[in-house]
Amino acid sequence: MRVILFTGKGGTGKTTCAAATALMAASKGIKTLVISTDPAHSLSDSFDVKIGPEPTEIIPNLFAQELDIYYSMRKYWGNLRSVMLQMFHWQGIDRKLSEEMSALPGMEEASAFLWIEKHYEDRVFDLIVIDSAPTGETLTLLTLPQATKWWTLRMFPIPKLAVRTFGSMFDLTTGIPVAKGYDELQEIMSKLEKVHKIFSNPEICSIRLVTTPEKMVIQEARRAFMYLQLYGFGVDAVIVNRILPDIDGESFFNNFIAKQDKYLSEIETSFHPVPILRINHFGEEVFGQAKLSRVSEMLYPDISAIDVFFKEKVINIYETAFGYNIDLSLPFADLSEIDIKTYSDEMVIDIGNRRKNLFLPKFLRFYEMKGYEKNGAKVTVKFEPKK
Ligand SMILES: Nc1ncnc2c1ncn2[C@@H]1O[C@H](COP(=O)(O)OP(=O)(O)OP(=O)(O)O)[C@@H](O)[C@H]1O
Ligand SMILES: [Mg+2]
Repeated sequence: MRVILFTGKGGTGKTTCAAATALMAASKGIKTLVISTDPAHSLSDSFDVKIGPEPTEIIPNLFAQELDIYYSMRKYWGNLRSVMLQMFHWQGIDRKLSEEMSALPGMEEASAFLWIEKHYEDRVFDLIVIDSAPTGETLTLLTLPQATKWWTLRMFPIPKLAVRTFGSMFDLTTGIPVAKGYDELQEIMSKLEKVHKIFSNPEICSIRLVTTPEKMVIQEARRAFMYLQLYGFGVDAVIVNRILPDIDGESFFNNFIAKQDKYLSEIETSFHPVPILRINHFGEEVFGQAKLSRVSEMLYPDISAIDVFFKEKVINIYETAFGYNIDLSLPFADLSEIDIKTYSDEMVIDIGNRRKNLFLPKFLRFYEMKGYEKNGAKVTVKFEPKK
């Protein structure tokens, strides 16, 4: 089974790309589910059909699902939430506050993960296309299993055996099924970890970053790219959407198009060697199957949408005895041609007359660059704590 997730800044075309990809796969006979995890759903607008909180077949081989937070929370967290609510309340916490506290952080996002785990286990679909929320939220979603573990350990900070023994005592004195809640939590945790494994396996899951040829959008894509690599997820393509065609003669858009060319080449160098896929501006909104088909033809002209386009890691950040190293893949450059500098949260790599900008993870602000060296195709940049 394959999972393809689209993310990018708000309004870049994630839903359009997800819908177009799913449509193309389904038309080739691949049983496909396109699922929207963004609470601001627009899959139904994109396909111009009504879509519900469970998978519904909209054309042969193509199923769509728009997650409904409350529906999913009731489905997956119902019992646990009620156990927690009773526990808080029993401990004397005000009812309203208990209600609020039992809506644990990340529960909404985790519900999306639990659906994906279910679909993965059911093996009904050959491909799951995820129309994800904008980059920030998607990164939170992808790091959720660790984050969830953190708060649950604080929720039930006693070993399992103790929960079992005390749990049954709780049951007797309070009537609250604590042990049941704990078991349910354990099950959810193991499911979340399983989904995390699926997402970080580049053979199964590809993340496609959607951008437009505009400064702020590219910045966000570059930042997301770095974090996705840092967390070990595979980005197999960068999609540049809404590219304006060249216009002969004087036009209101001349200036915009000149800038666009500059941004397009910046995208090429920033994400090299990740494949760049392009979609032209349609000159009108894109919805309905006919236009989505045209998008998919532009996106995947002579390639199959479900192939893995790229598997390597371009940036590898790892701990050393002195701090951290960043390995960059720069196969075609000599060390003498390379100049690397860091400015606050950015690393600027000059290779001859080309410039590659890379965002650094926030934590590296506490470290400074201590030189770099080249080994084969790799350049290793060293960071040590700031004095
Ligand atoms: N190539 C294109 N040419 C013209 N319009 C486009 C193109 N791609 C997308 N659009 C339009 O741009 C708008 C935003 O697209 P879309 O909904 O796919 O973006 P999104 O990234 O999912 O947005 P959000 O962050 O709000 O979920 C839509 O109205 C869509 O029809
Ligand atoms: Mg969308």
